[in-house]
Amino acid sequence: MSKKYTIVTYGCQMNEHDSEKISWILENMGYIWTDSKEDSDFIIYNTCLVRENAELKVYGQLGALKELKRKKPDLILAVCGCMMQREPIRNVILEKYKHVDIIFGTGNIHKLPQLISRHYQTNETVVDIVEDTREIIENIEANRKYTFKAYVNIMYGCNNFCTYCIVPYTRGRERSREPENILEEIKNLAENGCKEITLLGQNVNSYGKTLSYDYNFANLLKDINKIDGIERIRFMTSHPKDLSNELIEAMAELEKVCEHLHLPVQSGSSKILKAMNRKYTKEDYLNLVEKIKTRIPDISLSTDIIVGFPGETEEDFNETLDLVKKVEYDSAFTFLYSIREGTIAAKMENQIPDKIKHKRFQQLIDTLYPIFYQKNLKYENEIVEVLVEEVSKNNEKILSGRTRHGRLVHFGGDRSLIGQLVNVKIDNAKTFTLEGHII
Ligand code: SAH
Ligand code: SF4
Ligand code: F3S
Repeated sequence: MSKKYTIVTYGCQMNEHDSEKISWILENMGYIWTDSKEDSDFIIYNTCLVRENAELKVYGQLGALKELKRKKPDLILAVCGCMMQREPIRNVILEKYKHVDIIFGTGNIHKLPQLISRHYQTNETVVDIVEDTREIIENIEANRKYTFKAYVNIMYGCNNFCTYCIVPYTRGRERSREPENILEEIKNLAENGCKEITLLGQNVNSYGKTLSYDYNFANLLKDINKIDGIERIRFMTSHPKDLSNELIEAMAELEKVCEHLHLPVQSGSSKILKAMNRKYTKEDYLNLVEKIKTRIPDISLSTDIIVGFPGETEEDFNETLDLVKKVEYDSAFTFLYSIREGTIAAKMENQIPDKIKHKRFQQLIDTLYPIFYQKNLKYENEIVEVLVEEVSKNNEKILSGRTRHGRLVHFGGDRSLIGQLVNVKIDNAKTFTLEGHII
């Protein structure tokens, strides 16, 4: 009988896509997917370290599995992803969670079959980590969740060292994939029915810097735009400091590039932005937004914002409120600053008490949500193109999908439409979603 596996994934799209690769590797070894941990012969946790709550969840889950492992000694338990790139965390796992069998990192997913057989041979905890690598491993395919939309890595790692962020320490230095490999992957996806791709990188605007010839992100978008079958091109994330005029032009001109830009601002205070090592001021950011809106008037803008960075005063925070009102974001991810051991900001004085962080967080979302609602209201009675993604969990007859601008839309329809582009007339706008009917 085939062995069963399950993967629990935390963190960003990068991790989600890594899990799709792990799934492909395991299914090639004969494992079959199950949703149930109790039924699994192999459980993998793909971890995230970006904020403390992501980290704590993993410890909680691993602790809870001690009992299952005792009842089912043949069960293999593996932990991988960003947390495992940090030695102190690996040591915690090795000391406190001795029932973990395999530990690997973000740079050696392809070695999983070897690690599994090493574990079977030795019956010991196998630890395999690549600390920092310039190597890019090609040819790991992915068992993608959807056929009609796909994530495609264009680069790995990050060189920006924003002072709050652990990612440069878990994903290594920035390196770009060769364009021919990316284009080949996307052509294959398109031949197999993929309509929408999301290009992934910690800072896609610096794509190409590690290539041995002159080729940048705008060039890549132009080449992808030519691929038959691909209808929509998305990408994330764009660092404001590297967003070039050439890229804005490419976005405006290329018909397949969606009218949505995720442009993390992090804070509206130039003083805090400096302490974060973001390398732009509030004014730079607002000027950039102005330039984008002028060239692409119906652009949707989303962002990431951190509240309670060390030293953030009431005045600094008010600058953030002022900025979000000026930009009028279409959506935003908001975070409480979380101390990450090993980063520069973790050692800063003037850490902000939790109570103040929570108060500001609430104030921020109270400012943002009415803006989101106002932006959504503009779509009432409009017709939008939606890529149908899913059937609602609660109602078989309700479908959901996204517009080119990245908005989530609910509407009535049959599940046979999943994967199709349909036109939907919007009847009702809410803060986070739109409701409509197919026309
Ligand atoms: N490379 C991307 C994504 C990085 S992680 C980028 O630069 O935008 C996603 C978001 O998590 C960041 O944009 C930031 O807003 C948030 N984040 C990162 N470290 C954090 C920390 N220590 N505390 C709170 N939020 C954090
Ligand atoms: Fe982290 Fe900054 Fe790199 Fe984004 S650009 S991954 S926030 S260090
Ligand atoms: Fe992503 Fe979390 Fe790693 S946000 S890059 S999975 S630390």
